[in-house]
Amino acid sequence: MASEAAPLVKVGGLGDVAGSLPQALRGLRPPFWQGPRLDVRLALPLHRVIKEKVALAEPVADFMLATPAGKQPVKVYLTHAANLPVYLVDGPPIAPDGRVYSADPLLDGEKYIFFSLAALEMTRHLDWKPDIIHANDWHTSAALYALGLRRRQEPFFESMRSLLTIHNLPFMGKDAEPAMAKYGLPRSPENRLPTWARQFPLPLGLQSADRINTVSPGYAKEITTPEFGCGLQDFIKTRQEVLTGILNGLDQVDWDPATDKALASRYDCANLSSKLPNKAALQNEFNLPVEADTPLLVMITRMDQQKGVDVAVNGLRVAADLNWQAIILGSGDPLLETSCRSLEAEFPDRVRAIIQFDVGLSRRMYAGGDILLMPSRYEPCGLAQMIAMRYGTVPLARATGGLRNTILDDPTLATSTGFLFDEAQPEAFADGLRRALYAYPDREVWESIQIRGMEQDFSWEKSAIAYAQLYVQLSGR
Ligand code: GLC
Repeated sequence: MASEAAPLVKVGGLGDVAGSLPQALRGLRPPFWQGPRLDVRLALPLHRVIKEKVALAEPVADFMLATPAGKQPVKVYLTHAANLPVYLVDGPPIAPDGRVYSADPLLDGEKYIFFSLAALEMTRHLDWKPDIIHANDWHTSAALYALGLRRRQEPFFESMRSLLTIHNLPFMGKDAEPAMAKYGLPRSPENRLPTWARQFPLPLGLQSADRINTVSPGYAKEITTPEFGCGLQDFIKTRQEVLTGILNGLDQVDWDPATDKALASRYDCANLSSKLPNKAALQNEFNLPVEADTPLLVMITRMDQQKGVDVAVNGLRVAADLNWQAIILGSGDPLLETSCRSLEAEFPDRVRAIIQFDVGLSRRMYAGGDILLMPSRYEPCGLAQMIAMRYGTVPLARATGGLRNTILDDPTLATSTGFLFDEAQPEAFADGLRRALYAYPDREVWESIQIRGMEQDFSWEKSAIAYAQLYVQLSGR
């Protein structure tokens, strides 16, 4: 169960994962996977964007969801994404304002609590009973809480097991509290949960799930600490024996510099020199001096506190004495957008801020950049650093969460795939940049860093095997 999944609907990283992982799980076969064939299916809300894309046939389930406030009609449609069956759940709370994540948090709360309960209840009305319900983030956590309550009373649910994947802990669904009450989900009596969290979907998912995972081993450890635990760290510690971390994969077919049609020049590690025309094309496109030897820094990001945009902007000011050019692409928080524009105004001959969301441009930047900037305050997994490495663009990132797990920083550079710094502070960022730019002129060393990055295996298959093992343990099959 997820709120979004590519290619049907994608807003952020969760959409990539919920789109790719089920496909990878269905594709597991010997010799890489010796376990049972997995019949994985996906449940999504029938968002308006999906309605516009998919022709709907007759519903495969049509029932009333009982709530204390009365009955709500639910219709479930079946579609396929490649060979993955996708159940699209519809009902009155699903599409009132048409967006995946509404600007009105109360509407969102009701939508996702309804979806969680309707998707769980749907299993009773299909000719198919899952062994495991796998929920993702707060949007679907209420399903696991409800499952925990129901399986004590209803034989149909007794054997179902549950897994909760945390992609982003700070979003706990606090505004869904009224909807939880409205749909009959009581406050938790669990006294190890902080009082404020006892009717929030995500904490209740954490309480009820049979297993919990985050999208990197590093983040799984971090969320047991005050810095990253968002006030739940002590409770999460009580669940530590069921908590693991599994790195996300990357769609290595979609993200491949050897076949990427958006690029001016395609390349792979055997002909890295063909990466260079992409840099010149980018410098040209943005009217920057076309200098092959000036390191081109790229940042491709949501403009959000999480991503440390301010750290990069101020860090670049601290490192203004060094020779670099920078292109920043992204949109989001207006204050952060403005700070990027101000940086461009301050350094008109070497900074460009492109305030928009543009997949084609992001591809040209991954290919044309020398260094990707990723100074995240926290990063459960992160995708941009994996794409950058695949494109031979060396990441400079904060040592946190999935960034620490995917980027190797060796002080001798002999095994490095990138550069890490510890504090989400401009000075620490600038020191990291200084180290990277010091290594950059030595072409041999730099190319070896690029090539090691390009040769990393971030395939989904690796992640899927780890999930499949979890499923098998859980179901006891
Ligand atoms: C969230 C996290 C990001 C992760 C993604 C997919 O967007 O912020 O780190 O890669 O989820 O799991």
